[in-house]
Amino acid sequence: MASMTAPAVAARKGSGEPLVMITAYDAPSARVVDAAGADMILVGDSVAMVVLGYDDTLQVTIDDMRHHVGAVARTKPQALVVGDMPWMSYHVSREETVRNAASLVRAGAGCVKLEGGKKRVEAVQAILDIEIPVMGHIGLTPQSVHALGGFKVQGKQLDAARIIVEDAIALADAGCFAIVLEAVPDGVARMITDSIDVPTIGIGAGRHCDGQVLVWHDLLGFAAPDRKAPKFVRRYADLELTATDAVREFVADVREGRFPSSAETYHVADQLAESLGLYGGMTTEPSGLTQDASA
Ligand code: KIV
Repeated sequence: MASMTAPAVAARKGSGEPLVMITAYDAPSARVVDAAGADMILVGDSVAMVVLGYDDTLQVTIDDMRHHVGAVARTKPQALVVGDMPWMSYHVSREETVRNAASLVRAGAGCVKLEGGKKRVEAVQAILDIEIPVMGHIGLTPQSVHALGGFKVQGKQLDAARIIVEDAIALADAGCFAIVLEAVPDGVARMITDSIDVPTIGIGAGRHCDGQVLVWHDLLGFAAPDRKAPKFVRRYADLELTATDAVREFVADVREGRFPSSAETYHVADQLAESLGLYGGMTTEPSGLTQDASA
């Protein structure tokens, strides 16, 4: 079991040490996030957009999420693995909701996250009932992209702000151990952070949250050319450029005969080479030659 747990996350409220959550979707990204010391790894349904090339998050299924949660969990991180419940995995019935949540835990998640406020209280309670901790997610909820009319900042008007605060209180009262606040004005985030006794984790919600979350690809500079990074993204590297430069060098090395070198090649032993006539003027490599992988 990871050393970070949902109760340990909840206990950080008011500690003055901000929580850090970063998304990861596979083993290499999970290893990096964990080695960097994040408290939580979110296997987010954002995988749909940043890895799988979809325009929104509605395309991924519970099977997709299980696949990615498994890849992250098999790295045995110290961080808490948060399995994101995709659209339609907690909307149909109580039974489907709990089975889907349980399947993410069986894949290795230590808790699940779902989107929505008051109207999700029943789903939250059903999942808590089978002993799985739940993280809430309100404000801009990407699974509601069509209902919201796009990926827009939420809670800018008084009524909308009030609803978001009420949603946060309802989720905290229902038993969520933490709540993601996405794309809400900082004043609204502050009011929520001050009103509930579980941590708020902000993304585009300003500094008055108990923690922050960013998407791996945004943080590291892997961005699709047609996807403009939101203003709250701080880019700490430009890995897409770095990777392209490295791969371009490989392409050039192959084309110009610099790869592979002798040191990067398995060689036949001298005696075998001799009996095969390799030193005797053969110009083509004999087919079916078995290589000694240790040589
Ligand atoms: O799926 C995701 O990456 C998320 C974060 C934006 C919080 O839900």
